[in-house]
Amino acid sequence: MVTGAGSGIGRACTHVLADAGFAVAACDVDEAAAAAAASGTGAVVPFAVDVTDDASVAALAIAVAARMPPVFAVVNCAGWDQTLPFLETDPAFWQKVVAVNYLGVVRVTHTFLGAMVERGAGRVVNIASDAGRVGSSGATVYAGAKGGVIAFTKSVAREVAARGVTANAVCPGPTDTPLFRRQPERLQAALERAIPMRRLAAPHDVAHAVAYFTSPGADYVTGQVLSVSGGLTMAG
Ligand SMILES: NC(=O)c1ccc[n+]([C@@H]2O[C@H](COP(=O)([O-])OP(=O)(O)OC[C@H]3O[C@@H](n4cnc5c(N)ncnc54)[C@H](O)[C@@H]3O)[C@@H](O)[C@H]2O)c1
Repeated sequence: MVTGAGSGIGRACTHVLADAGFAVAACDVDEAAAAAAASGTGAVVPFAVDVTDDASVAALAIAVAARMPPVFAVVNCAGWDQTLPFLETDPAFWQKVVAVNYLGVVRVTHTFLGAMVERGAGRVVNIASDAGRVGSSGATVYAGAKGGVIAFTKSVAREVAARGVTANAVCPGPTDTPLFRRQPERLQAALERAIPMRRLAAPHDVAHAVAYFTSPGADYVTGQVLSVSGGLTMAG
């Protein structure tokens, strides 16, 4: 199951996981985008969900249970931000950033984790951000939420490690998606220049790291944080 499946990294995760043999529930608040992500691929089924809404996520669990095999992996990829200096932000903005980027991950994980624990098998892969590891000016509250996602992932990993479920975080660096392209052009160019590999990540670069954490080869890997950033961040 992939949230934020309608665009960018989530869409790439949907396709890479389908290519790896998974049946994929492609979930997004933008129903048409989820449907587009699913079109032309027999293994992908679109679902509408708003990860900020309890009732919507509860309804998703029922809909997915009715139409899909038991959920083995949850990829929390839905995210949102707007570049603004911290001093120009207000409480409504903070609440939206935290609702989507942090509590959305908490809510979806809480909804699907119990069944994984009961089956003794499962994977949680949370898309955090290098902003959450090293900070990011103009993305201050978002960076805090993503740092929260990293700490949450490690804590979930500890709680369920003996129950056959792993939890890991993938931290994209600047990645060529609509979210990235909404930033001021000067900032986009500066970020691209700073990347040692001298190019933005493509969404599939990130999706392959996600696929690794869902693969049998990652059975013994939990509570880890993997940056996919062309060398921009080399966090210790
Ligand atoms: N693009 C980057 O440079 C970059 C860098 C670091 C981390 N990330 C993270 O990667 C993830 C994917 O980002 P992207 O760049 O592909 O963005 P994107 O804007 O292309 O896609 C995000 C998707 O999430 C969906 N979404 C937003 N709010 C939602 C909600 N409440 N419920 C359900 N779906 C919702 C959107 O409809 C959209 O389809 C996000 O968590 C983002 O924070 C992106």
